[in-house]
Amino acid sequence: MRLLNALTAMTMLGVAATPAMALEGNLNVYCSVQVEWCEAIATEFQKATGVNVNMTQKGSGEVLAQIIAEGENPKGDVWFGGTGDPHLIAAASELTEIYESPNLANLHEWAHQQYGAASGRSVGIYSGAIGFGYNTELLADKGVEPPQCWADLLKPEYAGEIQMANPNSSGTAYVVIATLVQLMGEEEAFAYLKALHSSINTYQRSGTGPIKAVGRGETSVSISFVHDAVTEANAGFPVGYSIPCEGTGYEVGSMSIISGAPNEENARAFYDYALTAEAQRLGYEVAKQLQMPSNKDAPLPPNAPDLSKITLIDYDFRTFGAEAARTHLISRWDSEIGAMPQ
Ligand code: G6P
Repeated sequence: MRLLNALTAMTMLGVAATPAMALEGNLNVYCSVQVEWCEAIATEFQKATGVNVNMTQKGSGEVLAQIIAEGENPKGDVWFGGTGDPHLIAAASELTEIYESPNLANLHEWAHQQYGAASGRSVGIYSGAIGFGYNTELLADKGVEPPQCWADLLKPEYAGEIQMANPNSSGTAYVVIATLVQLMGEEEAFAYLKALHSSINTYQRSGTGPIKAVGRGETSVSISFVHDAVTEANAGFPVGYSIPCEGTGYEVGSMSIISGAPNEENARAFYDYALTAEAQRLGYEVAKQLQMPSNKDAPLPPNAPDLSKITLIDYDFRTFGAEAARTHLISRWDSEIGAMPQ
């Protein structure tokens, strides 16, 4: 207890709680990055502080649903990772709490923008762009060129060959739909998604399911975050990626502390730690993940897609990170696309 009081005092003085500090008790983390990264940061934080970390990996949409369901009786302390839009929805409902970490200063501007859009209830920890992943061997065997543009995905040669995720569970899939709406307008985007449906063989639960299926040769093409395609290629799978020629959307992967967190002091210490360059390096160095880190001193991993060289749309996080837009687009997708036979 004395240790917790000391930590509280340091936090009030605006001093960063470093993971080298001994803490006690538990920390329940809902984690929406790939499980290797969830495990790496949990292990390092636990080692450095003595806090017992309970980690649950779930998709961004699934964690949002869980936090809403737990409402007044929160079980989780920190939500680590996942696309930024559902973090903004949780923030607007005050399901996550305002926290001004002393470690905010060294973050890229886009991470601060997420903090501002969430009124201090969420912060950017990484970013990544949407594109196409493809199995180079399967496409070569079929004599088919990799897709380069959104329009290409509607070509007959990809019929039954494409996977994406389901936007109810996956933040990745929601970013795809929101990107298409911003590129084409809503009516045209839904006409496109309907036409695309006949080329989709599965809508996976998680955002990384489709690119893993590409790696294993179960499908030729996926709509994915392109850093996840590089992870598969680095693991030895015959995977390439391309960036849609019309432009593409991106995520600001985020972190939030859950309102009424049962282990709030530990949550703040974890949050401070996760913003350090040292913690962010774990994403690549231990877990082989290739997002762009938000701490300016954490390097872009080798061969990681460089967002400054990609034609990104001016993704409207305030509009598409609002509950009204997400509920509307997902229920429209459920009734017009998800309900269609495959
Ligand atoms: C992967 C990506 C992350 C992304 C996350 C979203 O882990 O590497 O950059 O934030 O998927 O997962 P979801 O299952 O919600 O689409």
